[in-house]
Amino acid sequence: MKTFINSIYGWADARLGLEELSHFARKKTVPEHAHSFWYYWGGLSLFFFLVQAFTGILLLLYYRPGPEAFESVRQITYEMHFGWLIRSTHSWAANLMVFAVFVHMFSVFFMKAYRSPREFGWWSGLVLLMVVMVFGFSGYLLPMNELAYFATKVGLEIPASTPIIGPKIAELVRGGLEVNEVTVQRFFALHVVVLPAVFAVLLGFHLWLVQKHGNALPPSEEAKPAQERKTVPFFPNFLMKDLAVWLVALNILAVLAAVFPWELGQPADALKPAPQGIHPEWYFMSQFQVLKVLGDWMPGAVGEIAGILLFNVCLVLWFLVPLYDTSRESGRRARRVTWLGLVALIALIITTIWGYAVL
Ligand code: HEM
Repeated sequence: MKTFINSIYGWADARLGLEELSHFARKKTVPEHAHSFWYYWGGLSLFFFLVQAFTGILLLLYYRPGPEAFESVRQITYEMHFGWLIRSTHSWAANLMVFAVFVHMFSVFFMKAYRSPREFGWWSGLVLLMVVMVFGFSGYLLPMNELAYFATKVGLEIPASTPIIGPKIAELVRGGLEVNEVTVQRFFALHVVVLPAVFAVLLGFHLWLVQKHGNALPPSEEAKPAQERKTVPFFPNFLMKDLAVWLVALNILAVLAAVFPWELGQPADALKPAPQGIHPEWYFMSQFQVLKVLGDWMPGAVGEIAGILLFNVCLVLWFLVPLYDTSRESGRRARRVTWLGLVALIALIITTIWGYAVL
């Protein structure tokens, strides 16, 4: 049996160069130190994405965009065998994925892994984060229930307040002046075709960069002499640990999806008044609250325009971090950027909690 397997391997190796691949996998190492825990979060984001792709394809078998959107999700939830579990897993994993991506972003930020030569890792990661958020926003509308309908309506009114181009952009995204089944059709195309394609290309680039440059060392490790630094082989040591973390994540996901099944609510009705406490998903809550406060301070659309300006400035600054904090020394710029990150993180948490507190 062993010689048979060996001869198949030899045959495939001669044609595919498997030996080079396994040599490469054995050569790759991952640093091991007090902050290694944070290296798992990129892989966790990837794990949740794989869950999304798998459960999303299953949902696609029965979901029908357009006027029957709500009815098809009702059937998935109440009539299909285990449909509720697949839908619940998809919704929970979406939220856990956004959470994992945020943790990953802040951990690479505080480990200063955006510094040369990893700038493109930072930039491609940021675009991935944006794609993930649009995934969430577009997916939220697909069941066309009351909450999703009004949250999307309110959400799209924000870019619509941008002078000159805003109303046109909102109209293009909605497919008209109102959120309706045309909007669902557009969001569906975005959610299952455009975003997965863009995401796959970006992710390929992001992971290729990690392969090329290896994992960054946090400044505290970099300060140590080379002979005091420890590494473990990626294959099989780190991969096994990665898989163990994925197993824990799968268990958490299974418990959440089964014990707290995702609700469906009432079908959207444009003629009904918006229910009390309409709010976006938690990862948009911070921006939602800032816009609400600015809107209360400034009259008319001025508050919203100021908010949009503020978000764009913050985003540009966040993008430019690798070009500002370039030195390996822990100089003034490095400290300033660490403070910027701390302020950003605390502001995000506080405004999110604040948003929920005043709903
Ligand atoms: C869907 C989103 C994402 C996925 C699936 C993903 C996946 C990964 C994986 C598997 C790694 C290697 C393991 C690790 O260091 O954690 C990694 C590294 C990295 N990621 Fe991401 N990532 C995502 C989003 C982001 C975001 C939002 C940022 C920052 C804006 C980012 C920046 C980086 C950087 C700079 C590295 C290199 C870290 C190092 O060298 O230690 N990634 N990513």
